[in-house]
Amino acid sequence: MARKVIAGNWKMNLSQKEGEELVKASNAFVEANPLVHVEVVIAPPYLQLQQAVKYSPTGRVSIAAQNMNENDNGAFTGEISASMLKEIGVELVIIGHSERREILGESDAQIHAKLKKALRSNLYPILCVGEKLEDRKSGNHFKFVQGQLESALEGFSGDELSSLVIAYEPIWAIGTGETASPAQAQEMHAFIRKHIASIYTATLADEISVLYGGSVKPENAKEIFAQPDVDGGLIGGAATKPESFIELIKIGESVLR
Ligand code: PGA
Repeated sequence: MARKVIAGNWKMNLSQKEGEELVKASNAFVEANPLVHVEVVIAPPYLQLQQAVKYSPTGRVSIAAQNMNENDNGAFTGEISASMLKEIGVELVIIGHSERREILGESDAQIHAKLKKALRSNLYPILCVGEKLEDRKSGNHFKFVQGQLESALEGFSGDELSSLVIAYEPIWAIGTGETASPAQAQEMHAFIRKHIASIYTATLADEISVLYGGSVKPENAKEIFAQPDVDGGLIGGAATKPESFIELIKIGESVLR
């Protein structure tokens, strides 16, 4: 069975103080209300990773980086390596977020290399895929997402991918207030699972978590999380405030199975 995950991606938001409060509040909630069904993940900006690890000492809240470089070390000014993340207690890394693909020009080849580096460094990767509005409108969305999966996963064995988490984030729904309907999310999640089953095995397809991302908030989470192939959410805006993030954790815990 796939892991169920509520993950907050802060992007380039929150001061050290605000970040500290948010991690402390999330950690206090999960310590007081041990979760049976969901795992909680927080992805702060690089500069706040160390304090986030410190303020979630029991590991009930896992800390993720929003990105990393695919090389071991060397002359890559401004970059952060997998071993640097591991060294400070980071457990997961988001790879190929659409903002990195679109705004920062990350290529499919780079995303593949980052995925390889993360898997070989024992960092759990959250691989993001998702189509633009024009692909959705022209009916090309399945083909587009399939292409992203094929290029990211090329050459991996099924065994290597057992820790993989995939986040389906339609670009037209990110930060726009527009959400994929529960039916649209379910349809794409089932497609992703079927694709994994066709390349690997049905068992692996069942074990890989497929999260939905794109304007998830307490008001719409219940219906989305109730879809059979949705294993949780990668949440941006609504994960940057303690009240809404904790509310989303509660909804995940009660709905995700
Ligand atoms: P959003 O962001 O929830 O603000 O739409 C989701 C994401 O980009 O991960």
